Amino acid sequence: MPAIAIIGAQWGDEGKGKATDLLGSSVDYVVKFNGGNNAGHTVVIGDEKYALHLLPSGILTPGCTPVIGNGVVIDLDVLFHEIDGLEARGIDTSRLVVSASAHVIPDYNRTIDKVTERFLGSRRIGTTGRGIGPTYADKMNRIGIRVQDLFDESILRQKVEGALELKSQILTKVYNRKAPGVDEIVDGLLVHADRLRPYVADTVLLLNQALDRGETVLLEAGQATLLDVDHGTYPFVTSSSATAGGACTGSGIPPMRMDQVIGIVKAYTTRVGEGPFPTELFDDAGEHLRKVGHEYGTTTGRPRRCGWYDSVVARYAARVNGVTDFVLTKLDVLTGLEQVPVCVAYDVNGVRHDEMPVNQTDFHHAKPIFEYLPGWWEDISGARTFADLPENAQNYVKAVEKLSGARISAVGVGPARDETCVVHPLV
Ligand code: GDP
Ligand code: IMO
Ligand code: MG
Repeated sequence: MPAIAIIGAQWGDEGKGKATDLLGSSVDYVVKFNGGNNAGHTVVIGDEKYALHLLPSGILTPGCTPVIGNGVVIDLDVLFHEIDGLEARGIDTSRLVVSASAHVIPDYNRTIDKVTERFLGSRRIGTTGRGIGPTYADKMNRIGIRVQDLFDESILRQKVEGALELKSQILTKVYNRKAPGVDEIVDGLLVHADRLRPYVADTVLLLNQALDRGETVLLEAGQATLLDVDHGTYPFVTSSSATAGGACTGSGIPPMRMDQVIGIVKAYTTRVGEGPFPTELFDDAGEHLRKVGHEYGTTTGRPRRCGWYDSVVARYAARVNGVTDFVLTKLDVLTGLEQVPVCVAYDVNGVRHDEMPVNQTDFHHAKPIFEYLPGWWEDISGARTFADLPENAQNYVKAVEKLSGARISAVGVGPARDETCVVHPLV
């Protein structure tokens, strides 16, 4: 069996966690390949609700092996806090495997993330303040600390010393902050070494051997296409590769082994943090979506910015990721509207753009061109097949599918695992 990727098609929080959990029982491995605890995935199983940040959503499925891949940045305090939290609720986390090549987030990068945002003022990104950007910057600068470094104290010390030569200057001279000492950082990391060791493995070998045996590997993205460092609305992005290409580099699974890319897309759009968002609503309609959709961040609790479905963004995500199937989530949130607007193209200074403008400046000026589809009033949370949906909801799904560049294989009609309407079987 192949490798399958699950990708966010908008600006995050599309419901990737629920989709991963849904497929969990049909796959052998679930791999987180990018990001860190900037992610927040809510999974609802029966009466239980789980908020996952660093652990792959497959951790909740008995028999499935969760893997933190080489492309992830790990806050070790958060990792063990999350493991302890799940264990206390009776979830077995012993199957977890962590890549020896994943980077860790040293304490100074959390500080640098927060002070940089303050320093930027009105040009801030609106980061989650978890140290994600500075840690990926260190990786590219080749001054990062990796999981494997924790098992060789003298190497760890050398690396921390090297990094702090630069970081101390930045903290003290640019930001007027106290720099941490080498011992403080080394000790803060080493305290986790013994507990971490049993989880650590060569995950590239492990995953490729699993594929050789015919097992199925699901690659679960954090963040999303429009937050991808290359393909997103730069600089208002995260610092990792959240698209299908990132699934390969962040896991060590070659592109030819991946034959399905599932794009998760909300039936409307949300965004957290700063940056352009053409269909954003500033009126009661936006407040309505936020309220009905419970659009508050899983990680930071910030209210999410809300807007209508943007098919230009969906087509772009379909293209960049090679989406084979979309899962359209939260259709139930649109129930009860007279009409549902869908953005089909942009107007940029009087010129129609059917595809993403090349220049970011144009994207900042893009005004949505809407088509208005008739709404529905029926409760759809019990729908399990496409035929169960009321006619106008069916028409909305069909219209969105036609505009978005790939078939819609499942529709979310509620937060719970089973509140899903399957159109084409996914695995
Ligand atoms: P992720 O980061 O992509 O995993 O998404 P989040 O978990 O941050 O945000 C999605 C939210 O929507 C979560 O609270 C889910 O429980 C919820 N959710 C997912 N799918 C559906 C759906 O089809 N309907 C409703 N009402 N809620 C959903
Ligand atoms: P999931 O996986 C939504 C946003 C932040 C900020 C930008 C950069 O739950 O979909 P960072 O801390 O990553 O440097 O912040 O990216 N962001 C997310 N927005 N969902 C997420 O994850 C996000 N992870 C980061 O709000 O705008
Ligand atoms: Mg989220």
